[in-house]
Amino acid sequence: MSEATGNIESNVRGYCRLFPAVFDTAVGSTLTDASGKTFIDFFCGAGSLNYGHNHPVAKAALLDYVSRNGIQHSLDIATKAKVDFLDTFERLILKPRGMDFVVQFTGPTGTNAVEAAIKLARKQTNRSHIVAFTNAYHGHSLGSLALTGNKYYHSEFYGSRNNVTHLPFDGYLGDVDTADLLAKMLADNSSGLPVPAAVILETVQGEGGINVASRQWLRRVAEICRQHEILLIIDDIQVGNGRTGKFFSFEDAGLEPDVVCLSKSIGGGLPMSLVLIRRPLDAWKPGEHTGTFRGNNLAFVAANAVLKHWADADFESQIASRGEVIQSWLKQVCERFAAQNFCYRGRGLIWGLDVKRGDLAAKVIRQCFQDGLLIEASGADDQVLKFMPALTIERPLLFEGLRVVDAVLCRVVGEETSPSDQALQVMPQLDLGSISSVGGSASMGTLGQ
Ligand SMILES: Cc1ncc(COP(=O)(O)O)c(C=O)c1O
Repeated sequence: MSEATGNIESNVRGYCRLFPAVFDTAVGSTLTDASGKTFIDFFCGAGSLNYGHNHPVAKAALLDYVSRNGIQHSLDIATKAKVDFLDTFERLILKPRGMDFVVQFTGPTGTNAVEAAIKLARKQTNRSHIVAFTNAYHGHSLGSLALTGNKYYHSEFYGSRNNVTHLPFDGYLGDVDTADLLAKMLADNSSGLPVPAAVILETVQGEGGINVASRQWLRRVAEICRQHEILLIIDDIQVGNGRTGKFFSFEDAGLEPDVVCLSKSIGGGLPMSLVLIRRPLDAWKPGEHTGTFRGNNLAFVAANAVLKHWADADFESQIASRGEVIQSWLKQVCERFAAQNFCYRGRGLIWGLDVKRGDLAAKVIRQCFQDGLLIEASGADDQVLKFMPALTIERPLLFEGLRVVDAVLCRVVGEETSPSDQALQVMPQLDLGSISSVGGSASMGTLGQ
């Protein structure tokens, strides 16, 4: 099946090798392939489908918009769809959080927002250096690629990585407070680190292996940035849009970043990227950073529809309750597979099970796919299974998905363990009873599917 498009599509294709099916339809948290087989979605379009596939409210709004010949392409000309989106975004997201930010629409994919953010920081500060962190992932255009940590994506042939320094993320050096290192290097004229235009970070590194920065570390980095007049850019492309339990991933730590990159789920399933700029830092001149596809009207319509989840006072607790189910199951798994040294980490509704080996994670992913579940891995060696279902996933489907992974883990680890070790190893099946009571009611809220 990976060859379904292989005759004509470049060798660069990737996910179709991981999930070798020809998909046809999708609703909520399931996809169906052309042969009629249904899959549960724990992959979520790499974080682009936080509200599920074909959300009914977005779908109705889109059908209405297209059928009344709503404007589809407009560069950054004002359209009713854009005005409505901005109004909803300001009313439901920015104002309640006391955020006086302006919105810059960039090209449609996440890396476009990152490029715009670092360009603005350089312009605003008249400095060229950027600090990024180990295991960071910020995209694949050349500026963003320079910020991305994993050497798999690096080659000197791709272009210059000048003007970027990677420093250790929180937890990278065990108990060492790596914010201290940043502070010391900035204070030391001989450290070799120039005062950068910006520090860019993900509060939870999604592609880097679900590495969760502590609140204290985040606050300390923000404080250091303030002291040195360095812009703090939060890349919330993957873990914003409710993924960590609140709309922005930095809310929990009480951070006040200067610039925020948002993409993936902001478009309600359609391509859209934006940069939020603290108002006094909006140093752009008119037309200084442009692009043909800035602001996708269909995405404005879908986004306007799904953002209304944030008017529901219960939405955050629904995300939390689903996250607790996964966390509780992961705890069980790590206890049951203690001999394998598995560990887990995450926040809200993004969780990682670190199985320590990329080949083992790949085996689990392949078998989960056979058994009807989409899940991917992240981390330096792709050793972390990434649990990222839609924020709106129905609880029975969430349990069903966990049951699939659980059975696969038992099988795969069992196959690797010698019969004598198996006898020593306690590996009971998943105890759903003990986690089904975790995390409250099955209600999906007013906009649920
Ligand atoms: C944190 C983060 N930043 C940037 C990007 C790049 O987004 P895109 O692939 O849409 O260019 C991603 C994609 O996974 C991401 O996770």
